[in-house]
Amino acid sequence: QELKLSLEQIEKGGYEHFMLKEIFEQPKSIHDTMRGRLILNEGVIKMAGIWDHIEKFKNANRIIIIACGTSWHAGLIGEYLIEEYARVPVEVEYASEFRYRNPIITDKDVVIAISQSGETADTMAALKLAKEKGAFIYGICNVVDSSIARITDAGSYTHAGPEIGVASTKAFTAQLTILTLIAFKLGKHNGNLGNADFMSLIAELDAIPKKIEEVLSSTHELVQNIAKDFVGATNFLYLGRGYNYPAALEGALKLKEISYIHAEGYPAAEMKHGPIALIDENMPIVIIAPKKGHYDKIVSNVQEIKARKGKVIAVVNKGDTQVSAMADYVIEIPETSECFSPIVASVPLQLLAYYIAVYRGANVDQPRNLAKSVTVE
Ligand code: AGP
Repeated sequence: QELKLSLEQIEKGGYEHFMLKEIFEQPKSIHDTMRGRLILNEGVIKMAGIWDHIEKFKNANRIIIIACGTSWHAGLIGEYLIEEYARVPVEVEYASEFRYRNPIITDKDVVIAISQSGETADTMAALKLAKEKGAFIYGICNVVDSSIARITDAGSYTHAGPEIGVASTKAFTAQLTILTLIAFKLGKHNGNLGNADFMSLIAELDAIPKKIEEVLSSTHELVQNIAKDFVGATNFLYLGRGYNYPAALEGALKLKEISYIHAEGYPAAEMKHGPIALIDENMPIVIIAPKKGHYDKIVSNVQEIKARKGKVIAVVNKGDTQVSAMADYVIEIPETSECFSPIVASVPLQLLAYYIAVYRGANVDQPRNLAKSVTVE
């Protein structure tokens, strides 16, 4: 028992929990996921899984992304990325719904499954169904040689390294990295992403690990302090627009699974269609408000929240003034193109969930009722 404990201590590398260690590993895990794929000086993205089957992707009527939980959130961001840069229609589905609703699939469809563990039962069953119907099936998995990695026709591994904490963190940002690479590669190949834009986007992607490092060091202490004020909260709303709408869903999932505080993510504009009724001085609202990406619309959402006395925790870009002037708490992140903002904005939200859970005395790495991979229905 003692030996087991000290081994675990070593594995945690000086961090109190695996989750915190994994949050801090993200500059490296994102870098590792890009390594050998993003070749900046040659101006190319090399991905054998895509390239060997480029005709399948080129001739696809649509791409269907299937996943569960956090991986499904990554899939939603994948939809924004692939539709924007490669102009291929994308649908994103919960694997559990897809498998039971008799979906229309043909041999002109490419189905991408996203799964950290590669063992999620619903995702596996959905893939088998898609394969039977003749679709080309592609896997984005973290665990090498996992069941999903083995049944797919091709795939790209995320090189995030082992993720032990039940709450997915570094696997999520690695999945986003792969989806970004796929979107840029397809877009470049099919002519929807011009060379100049491609070059500036890949240069920016290459700099993301540095930006994450910056975010970790500049927000760690601040977020810890913010967390202290919300230990007694019973509800949270997370809002974002565009690429940051799925990031809001993911922020809410992180909080609820490890702190057991009820949290909901919404597209900010949906607030008016129901959730606004919940807002009063006791409702904390995390709002993702980077400069690039419907900023003016977000400003008016914040005005509406403040008019109802909601407590605003805003994730903004450095030097922001408008949202910051209204927010109760401000977390600054560096500016990026909109498509990279969910990667960068997710980091302080992971830290916020983590510290709220820690201060509530929750078992962060092994939350109640949850398993790291859901291998039964
Ligand atoms: C993430 O924090 C969750 N624990 C969970 O939603 C997870 O993402 C989901 O079960 C999917 O797992 P997978 O990526 O291994 O398929």
